[in-house]
Amino acid sequence: MIAPRIALRGDLLDFVAAPARADRDSPAVRWRPDHWLLVEGTRIVGAQAVAPDVTWRRVDHAGKLILPGFVDTHVHSPQLDVIGSWGAQLLDWLRDYTFPAEARLADPPVARQVSQFFLDALLAHGTTSAVVFPTVHKASADALFAAAQQRGMRLVTGKVLMDRHAPPGLSDDVEGAEADCLELIERWHGQGRLAYALTPRFAPTSSEAQLAMAGRLLASRDGLYMQTHVAENRDEVRWVAELFPKARSYLDVYERFGLLNARAVLAHGIWLDDADRALLRERGAQIAHSPSSNLFLGSGLFGWAAAEDAGVHISLASDVGGGTSLSMQRTMADAYKVQAMAGTRLSAWALLHAATRGAATALGLGHEIGSLEGGASADLCIWDWATSPVAKRRQQVARDLHEKIFAWITLGDERDLIESWVAGERRYRRADAR
Ligand code: GUN
Ligand code: ZN
Repeated sequence: MIAPRIALRGDLLDFVAAPARADRDSPAVRWRPDHWLLVEGTRIVGAQAVAPDVTWRRVDHAGKLILPGFVDTHVHSPQLDVIGSWGAQLLDWLRDYTFPAEARLADPPVARQVSQFFLDALLAHGTTSAVVFPTVHKASADALFAAAQQRGMRLVTGKVLMDRHAPPGLSDDVEGAEADCLELIERWHGQGRLAYALTPRFAPTSSEAQLAMAGRLLASRDGLYMQTHVAENRDEVRWVAELFPKARSYLDVYERFGLLNARAVLAHGIWLDDADRALLRERGAQIAHSPSSNLFLGSGLFGWAAAEDAGVHISLASDVGGGTSLSMQRTMADAYKVQAMAGTRLSAWALLHAATRGAATALGLGHEIGSLEGGASADLCIWDWATSPVAKRRQQVARDLHEKIFAWITLGDERDLIESWVAGERRYRRADAR
C-alpha cells in the first residue's frame, strides 16, 4: 500500500537545538511562517514554502500555528477525578483525595474508561506523548497501554509499586509486583510506540526489598524507563530521612537501589542540594518540573537555574491531579512565574523547548518526537494564535515572534487548539473546526 501523502499549511515552529534560558533571539528557534509540512504515512518528510503537487492531499491552516505535539513528562491518569481538590499539602492530599480515587481502578472496566478519557483529554490539550502514572493495579497499566496503542501515541508508563504506607486496596508486595511487572514488560515494552517504566510511587511507599527489585528489573532489559517522585515537600523529605537513615539524601535512596539512569524521570526535585544535582547530571536523569502542582499543593519553588547550571535535564510536566490543568501552555506560564519569584526570567523559547524537543531529548526520543524534523513521527498540533478578545488584541500589537509566542503561552490554553495529529492521523479536532 502506498503511504498517504498529506501537506499541512501553517506557521511552523520548532527547535533545532536547546535555547539559552533568557535568550529571546535564539538561533535554536526554527521559524518557518506559511510553510507546508509534508507528512508521508506516519512520518514528517520535509517542509517547503511552496504548495506541493497534486499527489499531496492539502490541509490548509494558513495563519495558524503548527507545533510539535507537547510531551508531558509526569502526569497521573487516575487523578482527573481529584484535580482541583481543596486545602491539603502532599501527604494529606494523597490520603484524603488521591488514594481513594486510585482505588477505583482495581476494577478493569473502570480502568479502561479512565484510560480512554485521560488520553483523549491529553490529545484535546495538545499533548501527544506522555510519561504517566496509572495505579498499583496491573489492570490500570494494561488499560493505559491498550488505549495508547489504539491512538498510536508514544507513551511511557508502568504499574505503580507500593508495598507499604498505602491503604489495603492500593498495596502490592514484592513478589506479586515483580510478576506483574514482568508480565506487563513482556506484553507492552517495545510494542510499537510503547515503553515500560518501573514506577515506584515514591520512596515512602516502597520497602527496601521492593526498590531493590525495581532496580534489578530496570537493569534487566534495554530501554526500560524509571519514574518516581523526589524531594517535593518538606514533610515528605523528613519522612524519607526517617525511613532511610543510611541514605545521604532523598535522591540517594534511589541511587542506592540502582534506579537512576538516563531514562529516569524524577518529578519535582524542589528540595535537592548540589550533590544531588551533580548525581542527576552524572546519571543523565531528568527532573520533570511540575510548577502548577508545586504551587497548588504549596510544595515549594523549583530552582531551574541551579539545576540547569549543574547540567541536569529539565522537562515540564502537568502533574495532574496535583497540577490543576493538562494544558502545557498553563504549565509553561506557571513555570515562568515560579522562576520569576527567584529573579530568573525564562524565555518563551526555553519554556517551549522544555515542553517539546527538550523533553524528547531527555527521554532519548529526540529523533522521534518533539520536533518537526524530517524523519520524526508526525505528532503535531495546529493552534489558533488567540481565541479570546484580549489575547487577539495582544497578538495584534506584539512586535516580534518572541513577544507573540510568550503572549500565546501566558494568555492561552487548550481552547486555542484546533487539531492534534498523532503518527500522521488526526486524533482530535475542535468542535467548531468540523
Ligand atoms: N508523591 C507521591 N505520590 C504523588 C502523587 O500522586 N502526586 C504528587 N504530586 N506527588 C506524589
Ligand atoms: Zn506526581
